[in-house]
Order: sequence, then C-alpha cells, then structure tokens
Amino acid sequence: MSWSPNSWRSFPIKQQPTYQDQKALESVEKELGSYPPLIFAGEARDLKTQLAKAGRGEAFIIQGGDCAESFSDFDAESIKNLFKLLLQMSVVMTYSSGKPIVKIGRIAGQFAKPRSSDLEEIDGVTLPSYRGDIINGIEFNEEARIPDPKRMLKAYNQSTATMNLLRAFGRGGLADLNEVHRWNLDFIKGNPLGQKYEELSGQIDKAMTFLSAAGITSDNTLQLRQTTVFTSHEALLLNYEEALTRVDSITNDWYNCSAHLLWIGDRTRELDGAHIEYFRGIKNPIGCKVGPSMKADELISLIEALNPDNEEGRLNLIVRMGASNISELYPPLLRAVRDAGKNVVWTIDPMHGNVEKSSTGFKTRDFDNILSEVKQFMDIHEAEGTVAAGIHLEMTGENVTECTGSTSSPITADTLCDRYHTQCDPRLNANQALELAFMLSS
Ligand code: PEP
Ligand code: CO
Repeated sequence: MSWSPNSWRSFPIKQQPTYQDQKALESVEKELGSYPPLIFAGEARDLKTQLAKAGRGEAFIIQGGDCAESFSDFDAESIKNLFKLLLQMSVVMTYSSGKPIVKIGRIAGQFAKPRSSDLEEIDGVTLPSYRGDIINGIEFNEEARIPDPKRMLKAYNQSTATMNLLRAFGRGGLADLNEVHRWNLDFIKGNPLGQKYEELSGQIDKAMTFLSAAGITSDNTLQLRQTTVFTSHEALLLNYEEALTRVDSITNDWYNCSAHLLWIGDRTRELDGAHIEYFRGIKNPIGCKVGPSMKADELISLIEALNPDNEEGRLNLIVRMGASNISELYPPLLRAVRDAGKNVVWTIDPMHGNVEKSSTGFKTRDFDNILSEVKQFMDIHEAEGTVAAGIHLEMTGENVTECTGSTSSPITADTLCDRYHTQCDPRLNANQALELAFMLSS
C-alpha cells in the first residue's frame, strides 16, 4: 500500500472544520509547507529510544500540559512554570525510583480539539463548536466560530516561539540540578507539599556537594546541567500536519516535524479512517488513546497497522477509561496485547475518563478519581507482570482552580470559580500535579 503525506485525503475523516474558502486554505498549506521544521528527525528517534526504555521499565514517562494551548494566554512565564513543574515532578520521581524520567510537554502545537458535538447552544443561540485556536475562535459569536485557515500560520509561529523557549530553558542553566530549589513555584512554597519538596531538594543538594567533591560538577558534566523536554500534540488537523511532514535527509524516511511525538485521539482512531492512514506513514514515535469503547481485536488490528514491525518505543497506548471503568475494561485489553507479543508503551491518562459537571456548573474532574485511576492502572500492571510506563496529564504550572480535591490545596465546587482559566478541559494545578508525583513515588 503506497503512502504519501497527503494519502489521508482519500479516506473518511472525522472532527475536521469545513473551510469556506478553499483557495485561502491552499495558500496557507503552501506557505506552511515552505516553513522550517520545528523538530529534527534525529530528536524524534532519540525520543523513540527513550520510550523503548520506558516500555521495558528502565525509565518513566511524564507527559503533561494544557488541554488546549491558546493564542491569548501566551507568555513566557506560563511556559517556564510548566517547565519547572515537569522538572519538579521528575526529581520527585527519580529520587524515589532511581529511574530517569522522559519529559514530554503537551505543548508547542496542542491547538486542535475534537468535540463531542458539532454545535454549541447557549441561551437558545446555537453556533458551531469551538475547535481550538488553530481552527476558530472561542468567543461565542458567529464570526469567531468560522474556521479560518490563517490561524494555522499563527499556531505555527506560536509553536516556534514556544519551542525556542523550551530549548533555551533546557540548555541555558534553569535545568541545572544545582537549581532544584528554584524550581519550587512561588505559590507552592508556603504549603506542606512545598516544604516536602524543599526537604527533597536539600537531599539533592547534599548529593551534589558529594559529587562535586569527587570532581563531578555541572561545569564538567552535561547531564547535571541540561535536560530535554520533548513536545507533543494530538495530530487532529491533518492539513497542518501534512504541511509539516518532511523527508529526513539522513534516512529518507518521512517525519512529522511539528512535534517529537504525535497522538491520535479517542474519537478519530477508526481503523479505515484518515488519521490511521496518515500516522502509519510517519516515523516519529506516536501515541493512540485507548478509551472505554475499544475492543481487544480492534486494538490488535490498530497496533498491526501502526507498528507493523513491532518496534519498541514506536507506539504509546494512552489508556483513558475512567476510575470506575478501568478495572473491568483494561485487563482484557492488556492481556490480549501481551499475549499477542506486541511491543507497546502503556501510559495512563487519568483525565479524559473522569470528566464531570460540578454542582456549580463547571466542567471539572475530581482529584480522588484521578489518583484512583492512576493507582488502579499501576496495580493492574503489577498483577499482570507488565510495565506501567508513564502518565499523561492535563496540567499547568499556574495556580488555577479547575479540578476539585487534593489535600495540598483543597478546591471545592464553590471555589472552582476563583481561577478557572482553561480554554477547554480542566487541568491539574501545580500543587495537584506535584501531589500526584509524590503519591506515585511513595
Ligand atoms: C485530549 O487529550 O485532549 C483529548 C481530547 O483526549 P481524548 O482523545 O482521549 O478524548
Ligand atoms: Co482534554
């Protein structure tokens, strides 16, 4: 079966905008196609090697970031805070497990959103749904909701600037292990979790002093002063993804150069659909969501389509069943994949199966359900003798109030309104994410 970056166009496709002006769309696609890549194929191969390690239990993956990035909430501070949070969670988990953490942001391209309904109704007015800033505007008026292809150019530019910062933070001193105290976010410092983190940082300081006495310092050892945060997003809007799909000059393979890792959402993973067609041809490591409607034989066919050579580190299956479903629905899938001898990297997304509406009307998730789904996922792997390779979270380094619960800074239905800023789904704030990391490390 031949493949090309545009072969998806002859397959049935879901969750796409209908652009009114085809000429404008084509001109944007052409322009994007001439722009530089955001990542290099060699970096994607490096991530694949690290995912393979996680799949064997030699590393652990933390993937996290916004549900949807936005054009209006774009600033260096929030990118820096997410970066710091990823580092904080990583040291917490590395310190207890002794394993390296593979850090992946839902960032620098996470703009397109699948929606459960094509239309949104407010006070008797019905308009097309918001589909992410790369497609249309979130404002509830007719004009904003018209899909505008030029938004792809803005998303590309914002992603480029974001990527630039992530690279600078990773290389420019912020990631130095001598800076662990600086990663503690201001609003966490005062509470018990912040203190727990400070204690841990103190222990790391001691280890650094010891290493330094032995001649190993961040001046002479790159690994102590640098880190990599890889990028990822749901490759939903295939016009954008196709335009950034390029041939690697070293291997002659096709890579999606808009992010290191791309994933397929739970609503667009039909075997004979356009997304599977697109994904089978790119050599990046890829993810696929596995929700409650997935059947074992369907999953095996998907794995065969997406990873025909059974390569380690190629395919990340992101389980999102919900706390009340996972114990029933997940073990049969896990066993089927294990017994078929398929190499996959299992991670848990405890966000998308646990959405609820608060009594005060907010779309939220309860921290207890999130913890519970993660714990059950770990226990199921333990029982089956397989590897739980990581977590996939919607989270932010900002002090938002979007998910209820947590002991470090309890949020209730009544306080959700204080700082509810998300563009789409509710995110864990830094306290909640760090609490989850401590829970996983205990
Ligand atoms: C997401 O990760 O933002 C998402 C929409 O997830 P899912 O496809 O699992 O619903
Ligand atoms: Co989401």
